Amino acid sequence: MMHFLRALHERFQGLEDGEVARYIPELAEADPERFGVSVVTVDGRVFEVGDTDAVFSLQSISKPLVYGLALETCPAETIRRRVGVEPTGDPYNSIVKLDVAGRPHNPLINPGAIAVTDLIRGPGPDDRIAQILERLGRYAGRPLGVDQAVFASERETGHRNRAIAHLLRQFGRFDGPMDESLDLYFKQCAVAVTARDLATIGATLAHAGVNPVTQTRALHERHVGPVLSLMLSCGMYDYSGQWAYRVGLPAKSGVGGGICVVVPGQMGIGVYSPRLDARGNSVRGVAAVEAMSRHYCLHVFGRDRSCASLEEALR
Ligand code: DON
Repeated sequence: MMHFLRALHERFQGLEDGEVARYIPELAEADPERFGVSVVTVDGRVFEVGDTDAVFSLQSISKPLVYGLALETCPAETIRRRVGVEPTGDPYNSIVKLDVAGRPHNPLINPGAIAVTDLIRGPGPDDRIAQILERLGRYAGRPLGVDQAVFASERETGHRNRAIAHLLRQFGRFDGPMDESLDLYFKQCAVAVTARDLATIGATLAHAGVNPVTQTRALHERHVGPVLSLMLSCGMYDYSGQWAYRVGLPAKSGVGGGICVVVPGQMGIGVYSPRLDARGNSVRGVAAVEAMSRHYCLHVFGRDRSCASLEEALR
């Protein structure tokens, strides 16, 4: 595995296409050359190469995890009324499209995610973010915190998301405190992580919701399938269809440059490289995971016995 990861890193380090996200001013400060790939197996082993300790913000990768928290803390009917589970094919920040029931299509686009974050309730803002951080920390296996500069930057410039929240209010899909729930959404996006954290989060989802390093449960087993289905169909923005077709793995990307990938029953993969393609996915991240899926035949529907064996690589 290490041999493969080193070759993978070397091969894609030279890929300089794409641009670091700038619409959140603080994200423009990222070093575009950073590139790290981390693998955590369901028996808790770690393989990694490159900048796997570099810190960046979780951004949209928080969305499936907070959705999982909502599944555990809210009645199913409340969630079903609020958000669908249908891919859109539209960019993540599109504003007005709602489904026939008047809901955002799914919880991995901004409108759906904002509607879901609004459901994480508590006595006040500190308690609400504490619930989210506690949950995310179980996946990562270490305490996580909010990058205050990234939070402040998005809070100041996030007018599009404010508009989305107001539209959701109009349509009855957002009934909590407006500014507080929006701040909570900006905070969950600003959680500081590394590629190793993303691999551990992926490994937790690959391991039926139990962190394979700490053995702490982060998500009830019955919610793992629903969360992974959404990641497979909606996790890569408007590239999700092609991703499911070509790579065949549940994944979630964020505009901070991270991608969290789940190989069910086997491992999590975390990649960080902040240059994004036009859809908002890490260019090197997509290339690296695609190559890895092909090499080890990781596609969930495409087991091909003739290709390099993952079991052997992990031995
Ligand atoms: O709401 C935003 O625009 C960012 N905080 C997160 C966007 C992101 O990573 C792309 N989303 N799917």
